Amino acid sequence: MAPKTIIITGCSSGLGYHTAIYLAQQDYQVYASVRRNSDLNLFTHLPPQHQPQPFLLDLRWSQSRISKIISSLPTPPEVLINNAGYGFFGTLDTISVDHLQQQLEVNLYGTYKVIKAVLPSMRSRRAGLIINISSILGLFSLPGYGPYSISKFSIEALTQTLRHEETPFGIKTVSLNPGSFSTNFWKNSQLPRLNSKRTLSPHQQFNSNLKASFANPRRQHTRSHPLQVAKVINQLISTQNYPANVPIGLDAQLLYYLHRLLPRPLFFWIVKTIAHAPRPQQNA
Ligand SMILES: NC(=O)c1ccc[n+]([C@@H]2O[C@H](COP(=O)([O-])OP(=O)(O)OC[C@H]3O[C@@H](n4cnc5c(N)ncnc54)[C@H](OP(=O)(O)O)[C@@H]3O)[C@@H](O)[C@H]2O)c1
Repeated sequence: MAPKTIIITGCSSGLGYHTAIYLAQQDYQVYASVRRNSDLNLFTHLPPQHQPQPFLLDLRWSQSRISKIISSLPTPPEVLINNAGYGFFGTLDTISVDHLQQQLEVNLYGTYKVIKAVLPSMRSRRAGLIINISSILGLFSLPGYGPYSISKFSIEALTQTLRHEETPFGIKTVSLNPGSFSTNFWKNSQLPRLNSKRTLSPHQQFNSNLKASFANPRRQHTRSHPLQVAKVINQLISTQNYPANVPIGLDAQLLYYLHRLLPRPLFFWIVKTIAHAPRPQQNA
């Protein structure tokens, strides 16, 4: 059987980088999107037959530009892996509408535009698989994780809707819900700037603690290796039965089942405690 053609977005680092290489090693034809010209030679150290083919794409580009790029790839994709994204964090009163829009612009609208670009060819072949990299925070939120969580909840809605609308046309959709993985995600994550007027809030200290916790070396040790995600995706591509959600990593699996099984108040008490939810100070 001819190798399947796969598009993966956001392959300059992390989950996308490792998945692109791993799938290319399994003989898939992998088209790997990056944003910078300098990243176009990221894979040249690999043997030519196992090199993902990089191409330039920024999720903030227009629908017509993204559709044109995807339709000009040598082979239409049988699998789309929507991976590119970043995290904007901070309590909701410390962020602005602009921050939220920027987060949704990439994580939601960007993902949606790439899906729109692949649907026509998948539908005409009556076959296709769309894998959306959501997050365990697409299923529940934590204090301080709001903007990111909102963007990932909307990825869940995208997945569910596509399952209703496109399954009859042979197109399968699945959400992956990773826990915490060791990638550039934490270093690249953004928070509102401290000390600006907008952030004069009792939550300001909470935000800075959150930022510090992302960089905490102890937390970095507990994060899973991105190859784990690559292997799950490889298994999914070769299966015929696609669940709606796939939690990945021990932390995500534990939280996923607690979220499903525990009474809601108990679950939220546990996550609020783990996340050290902000409380009113005497002078706040
Ligand atoms: N790491 C985790 O713990 C974790 C957990 C759950 C879910 N996730 C999700 O997994 C996905 C991959 O993240 P990661 O952990 O691999 O982080 P990462 O190492 O920071 O990789 C993110 C990728 O997305 C690309 N990207 C960011 N903004 C983009 C844009 N506007 N247009 C196109 N590409 C863009 C980045 O490109 P540049 O290098 O050019 O910025 C990079 O290639 C994300 O959707 C993230 O939300 C991650």
